[in-house]
Amino acid sequence: MTGASGLIGKANGHTCVVGLGWGDEGKGKIVDLLCPGFDVVVRFNGGANAGHTVCINGKSFAVHLLPSGVFHPEKLSVIGPGVVVDPVSLLNEIDTLASQGVTVGENLKVSDRAHVVMDYHKIEDQLSEAAAGGGRIGTTSRGIGPCYADKVRRSWGIRVGELRNMSKLGKRVEEIVAKKKAMFAALYGEDGGLDASALMRELGGAAERLTPFVAETTSRLHDRIDDGETILFEGANGSLLDVDHGTYPFVTSSNTTANGIGNGSGIPARAVQHVIGICKAYATRVGSGPFVTELTGATGDAIREAGKEFGTTTGRPRRCGWFDAVGTRYTVRLGGVTEVAMMHLDTLSGFEEVGVCTGYRLDGNVTQTMPADVADLERVEPVIERLSGWVEDLSGVDRREDLPETARAYLTRIEALIGVPITIVSVGPDRMQTMISSGSHAIGQVLTTAAERA
Ligand code: GDP
Ligand code: IMO
Ligand code: MG
Repeated sequence: MTGASGLIGKANGHTCVVGLGWGDEGKGKIVDLLCPGFDVVVRFNGGANAGHTVCINGKSFAVHLLPSGVFHPEKLSVIGPGVVVDPVSLLNEIDTLASQGVTVGENLKVSDRAHVVMDYHKIEDQLSEAAAGGGRIGTTSRGIGPCYADKVRRSWGIRVGELRNMSKLGKRVEEIVAKKKAMFAALYGEDGGLDASALMRELGGAAERLTPFVAETTSRLHDRIDDGETILFEGANGSLLDVDHGTYPFVTSSNTTANGIGNGSGIPARAVQHVIGICKAYATRVGSGPFVTELTGATGDAIREAGKEFGTTTGRPRRCGWFDAVGTRYTVRLGGVTEVAMMHLDTLSGFEEVGVCTGYRLDGNVTQTMPADVADLERVEPVIERLSGWVEDLSGVDRREDLPETARAYLTRIEALIGVPITIVSVGPDRMQTMISSGSHAIGQVLTTAAERA
């Protein structure tokens, strides 16, 4: 697969791609685009809750657990220790890609330290959400929270390396299932229909196929770094979903910023020279939780329709709103972001005015600080600055200087508000619909126009 592969030169050091909002910013597109300049792509957090879209020559692919590097079979793709792996879902993903002509084989390694998402984690996710009623998080039902909880609890956690010895694992699973059934019955009034033997049968089949991919990935990555290779870290979810720094409790259960790299991959985060923050030209969120700039009326609907804002993993309609410079500056600083990729600029074409949130008004005071308390965040009113919009179709624009003046002014204003340069501007889902500034520190030898790329 070629597309715009010739677009990017060699990487200028280990780099991380991370979402600056509540997910779905377009991380998959950028990881795929940058991949040719790197040797290894590493996922370090989350699980099958992620849905990363890669569009190559008009054909769209979605990956959930697999790193977006798998579309470049000559690169090593690694699922790190910090990821929670649903074996059946991972194999389904590999099979789906195979049916679409993308083979995943020797190029994939899964850490033996990563934790296994079991069926009972998914059931627990659904039962606890149903019981929470109006207070539910709106999870992806992929068992993410319960799996991370069991990992931290220690006695119930199962690691991918254990799948190599199913007979030993059988006894543990039996014990865990008995305890889970008792716990579900006590908390939710039903045992979730759990059957340890059926669970082990399904897991056994998956384990057999998965074993060739399982490896001690931490030392492999260090060895590759020692050999002069460069790594691209692929963040999942978004920085505002970080379990420590996001809009808690309406978050996911992992560390989603570049700070998660150390624990999630075994490579110290300080090894990462460049952090590319991905954001859309507006904001979106799936699931519950505060959303300061949300547009619940016709404008929000228009953005959703124009941007095709429906979840890659669950198909749910995404909530849409204006660009939140307060939230984005917060996540830029949180993750040590060095430059930004602004996606979906094309989606905002046709609005007479576009809004940017420059401050949070709380109890009569305007602040640029993100409140920790979700109740405060729910009360915040956005201070919206209105900028002139543009009507032109941007999907074919190839250079930032060829954008309408108002679109350029929009980018410049956002750069000033968030404090880092926008070095990548995306105007469509395809690899080719991307403008990369020669001022990028992360990306080497950029050819800027389609003619040069051809
Ligand atoms: P991720 O989870 O961060 O990888 O993002 P998703 O794949 O869940 O959602 C991003 C969606 O936007 C996908 O459908 C992409 O194909 C699409 N997309 C990415 N960049 C652009 C862009 O610049 N313009 C438009 N119109 N679509 C884009
Ligand atoms: P990508 O990598 C958008 C959201 C869910 C829910 C909350 C908790 O595609 O950007 P979880 O299942 O993780 O316990 O759900 O987090 N969420 C995402 N939203 N994109 C994602 O991933 C998400 N991963 C989790 O909608 O609100
Ligand atoms: Mg997504």
